[in-house]
Amino acid sequence: MNIRLARAEDVVGMQQANLVNLPENYNIRLWIYHIVTWPQLSFVAEDPKGRIIGYVLAKIEEETVDPADIHGHINSISVMLSYRRLGLAKKLMELSQDAMVSVYKAKYVSLHVRETNRAAIGLYRDALGFEAVGTEKGYYYDGENAYMMRLNLKHD
Ligand code: ACO
Repeated sequence: MNIRLARAEDVVGMQQANLVNLPENYNIRLWIYHIVTWPQLSFVAEDPKGRIIGYVLAKIEEETVDPADIHGHINSISVMLSYRRLGLAKKLMELSQDAMVSVYKAKYVSLHVRETNRAAIGLYRDALGFEAVGTEKGYYYDGENAYMMRLNLKHD
């Protein structure tokens, strides 16, 4: 498996993986917008044939004017079922987090996750050190609540 920066030509493969793995799906323009606007933050994992088997789609929150509040946000991450528990998601997250610091001087990274998503919460909390900082009631289309999670990023 190879992990590399996402490119504009990857958006169809990324969107396909997203459709298979998650109920939260996005217009192709949103995928392109992220990769064009923050080209250092989104990554893909590919199999030996170059097929996309995982991705992380990330951005910098733009409304921020206070440098102390510059932060990254993980919009979406997923790994195809047969490639899970190999450390791919952790690696994708770490690469994006590192770029948030080195390129944008981001102080922390945030995300939303379904309260019942045990695998993702395990990844964020246990493997990466995120903490839940609140709950958004009815955040998802089916009424499920989201945990808002956050990780302070290390600066050398
Ligand atoms: N149960 C508990 N902990 C888990 C699980 C699980 N099923 N999967 C991963 N973890 C934790 C473990 O601590 C694991 O370390 P270990 O394997 O040494 O125990 C650690 O996370 C790292 O796991 P990875 O192998 O890097 O994770 P993986 O590549 O399997 O991907 C992911 C995890 C992305 C959550 C995957 O299960 C998936 O694609 N799920 C469906 C899509 C999804 O839920 N995406 C997140 C939605 S929230 C958002 O996008 C912001």
